[in-house]
Order: sequence, then C-alpha cells, then structure tokens
Amino acid sequence: MWRTSPVTAFSASTRTPTSIEVFQTALTVALQRSSSPTQTGSVNVIRSIPAVTTRRPQWRIAAIPAASSHIRITVPPCTNPAEFASSMLIHRIRFEREADAGLGSVAFTAAILLPLVYPAAPVEIPLFANRDSLDPLIDEVAARQRAVLDSGKYILGPEVEAFESEFASYVGAEHCVGVGNGTDAIAIALRALGVGPGDEVVVPSLTFFATVEPVVTIGATPVFCDVDPDTWVMTAETAEAAIGERTKALIPVHIFGNPAPVGDLVELARPRGIRVLEDAAQAHGARLNGTMAGALGDAATFSFFPSKNLGAFGDGGAVVTSDPEVEAIARRLRFHGSTDKRLHTEAGYNSRLDELQAAALRVLLPHLDEWTRARRAAAQGYREAGLGRSVAIQAETDGGESCWHLFVVATPERDRLRDELAAAGIGARPYYEIPLYRQPAVERWAPAEPLPNTERVCAEILALPMGTALDPAAPARVSEAVGAAHRART
Ligand SMILES: Cc1ncc(COP(=O)(O)O)c(C=O)c1O
Repeated sequence: MWRTSPVTAFSASTRTPTSIEVFQTALTVALQRSSSPTQTGSVNVIRSIPAVTTRRPQWRIAAIPAASSHIRITVPPCTNPAEFASSMLIHRIRFEREADAGLGSVAFTAAILLPLVYPAAPVEIPLFANRDSLDPLIDEVAARQRAVLDSGKYILGPEVEAFESEFASYVGAEHCVGVGNGTDAIAIALRALGVGPGDEVVVPSLTFFATVEPVVTIGATPVFCDVDPDTWVMTAETAEAAIGERTKALIPVHIFGNPAPVGDLVELARPRGIRVLEDAAQAHGARLNGTMAGALGDAATFSFFPSKNLGAFGDGGAVVTSDPEVEAIARRLRFHGSTDKRLHTEAGYNSRLDELQAAALRVLLPHLDEWTRARRAAAQGYREAGLGRSVAIQAETDGGESCWHLFVVATPERDRLRDELAAAGIGARPYYEIPLYRQPAVERWAPAEPLPNTERVCAEILALPMGTALDPAAPARVSEAVGAAHRART
C-alpha cells in the first residue's frame, strides 16, 4: 500500500551538525490511499506553504543513518480527509536530528513514503454528467459509423461534406471546414485570415494553452491581454490595452461557454484592419444577442474533442466563416495547401475531420440545443439555490447566453473548498491555475506586469458539477455543501 514517490529523493550534507535542516522548495509527492498504514517513527509531513519555515518538533527524527543511506519515513494516518483529499500535493519537509555529536559529516538521501489514509468519499455528484445523454444515441452512432466502414471512404467523403453544411447552418455562417482538431483549426484560420510571421495576435491570458499555441507555431507573436473580472473573457477594454502597430488579429475565447463581447471587439478591430477570430472550442450553442457563437467575428474555430458540448469519439475540429476567401484558404491549408492534390500553393497541414467522426457528429448535432437547455437549467438551478451568496458565479456577458461548457465559480478559498467538496463526494476541479503567460513555452512574451484580473481568477476558480444529464437535485445539494463550507469559515 505504500508507494515511494519518484521525485522525493534528495540529498544534503553538513558538517558535525547538532541539527540538520533539509529544505526542498517544491517536493511533489504522489499520495496513495491506504486503509491500514504501518506507523513508524514520528514524522509529519505537511502541506507546503512557501512562506512557512516554522520548526515543528514532530518532524524530529531520533537517528540519522550514516552517509548515503536511506531514511525510510512513514507518515501517521491522516484522519482529516480535507487535508489529503487531492491526489497530488506539494510538500515542504524538514528534518532535525537529535543533538548528538559523533556522526561527523553526514550525507543522506531520504525517500518519503506517503500514505493517504482516510475512507475515500464515494463520488456522489460527479464533475461531468453527460454520459447518460449519450448512451441512448450510441447505437445510432455505431450504425452510421458502420455504414462509413462499409463504404471504404474514410477521409473527405460525404459525411464530412454533409456535416460541414449542417454545422454551418446550425451556427448561422456560410461555410464550415472540418479539420483535425480545434488547435489546428486556430492555426489554419489565423493563416486564412492573413496572419503570419511578424504579426501580433492578442489572446486572453485565461484560456487553455491551445489558444496561443498555434499563434506561436505559425510564427506570429502572442500578446496577452487581461480578462473582465466578472465574465472572465476578453473585452474591448482589455484587448485595446494590448493592441499595437503590428496587431493583426484578436482571438476572443468564449471561456467555459460564456460568449466574449465580439461585437464590441469587431468595432474596435475593424477600423484598424485587425481581424477577429473567435475561439469557440467551448461554446457550441452559446449565443450573444441572439447570434450563435461562431458567427460573430471574421471566422471562428471549434473543437469536437470528446468532452466538448458537441464532442466526437476522437479528435475533430472546424473553421467556420462567412468569408469565402477565408473558407477557400482554410480548405487548401487543411489539405497540404492544395485543392487537387497535384498543385500545392502553400505548405499547409494534413488535418481533416474524418468520416467516422463526422458521421457521429451528425447524429449528435440535432441534440445540441436540448443539451444546451439542460445545461442552462442546471446553471439556473445553482443560482436559485443561492450559490452566489457563498461564491462568485461566472457572470454572463451582457446579452450573452452561455452554453455552460463548465460551471465555474470563484472563491479565495478555492483549494479548501475543492477538498471539502471532495470529502462530501462532490466533484470539483480548478481550471487554468497558471496564467497563460506564465507557461514556460510562452513566458518570453509575458506582459511587463502581471495582469491583475487574470491572476486573481486563475487563483480562485473552481468548476462544479455540470452536464446534460446532471441530477436535477444536484445544484441544490452542491450549493448547500458550498454554503455550509462557507458558513463554517465566516
Ligand atoms: C479554449 C480552447 N481552445 C482550443 C482548444 C483546442 O481544441 P482541440 O483539443 O480539439 O485541439 C481547446 C480544447 O480543449 C480549448 O478549450
């Protein structure tokens, strides 16, 4: 039941000490559940708080073995589920040796063996509740995919063509180009909009890495902008602060399904010759002033990754636009920069939505509106249950109807609340804990000063259970648990 964490070995040496202090600033320890831990020694390991340096007598180890030996430490059972509710914790540890001379120079390595000891709370309300809506459709999906298998036509056939037309008309745009995934969709759309090396692209700092990654891979320069403190999306105000001479495009992200105010952004961008690309990977079925996300800017990209509101059974994505030139370039780029496989006008991608995925998506698309209604009803249930009295719920943009890809709240007590909900059998998870500009791959383009709203939101947000088949009683139960945790602290 014990597991040695792969990253917990460290070494230290000192000369004839009366006490030895070993600090590991970030020691990641894999925790494992155990029901009957053995207990040896009297060492405690606590959650790391970078500022904590206080001595703890209980960390005292009576004897330190001679040079380079292993110290085996087992941790007493922890009966506080909240403390150890997550599966990965960062610890700072310190060892003290009893004052005794005679060991001389001591060098040692220690391997920490950490049990996680508490009765695991069964997950009663999972974070994602969608599978029950999908199950009744699986046979139909399988039959449509079977027909594709029988046809022998797997790439760029009638299913993709039909889905492109159905999805374009669902979104209310002229064209849809099916591609391999939502990340390629952004690269292809940016290039189709005329963005290239040397151009700057404004991206919000609160989003999945895939929003910025294609900016870099096409050779453009990302410029990070802050998000609104309540809606958590790019606004004209936050974007304007990041616009410069070389700005060629803005990528508003409809984060967690909440539409960014694209109309305002277009108004800001158009007179400056800047294109607006919606990253609608999380926003199938969201609307702004009655218009579907995806039909608001110059072009939009979607992901059909399985967990998305319209998810395939593998990877998939799309570029949607009403601009025929953007469509034509996107079609070429997804196919090696060619229209006929004979002449290649640019180096593009091998990135197509495939027939099997398109066949599945055609079965699911007619259900998207009913699923969006279910998500919106769940969000309303949370509001009516008074959740907003204990935590801040993501605000919908003015005129916006979120499709609630995720239901996310914010609280300064985020990590504690997550642990408390886990102990109560309620799924909850932080998203985007690291502002995008702190990601090592793009930190060289970080703004001169941290972006305050992004910093706060990244530190505070927590997704709560949401889905197309969420138990109608769940919002009230979760809200009650959140409220109880909140009351216990105030
Ligand atoms: C905001 C955002 N943009 C882009 C993507 C990329 O989509 P994909 O995973 O299909 O490449 C995702 C997917 O998680 C996303 O959430």
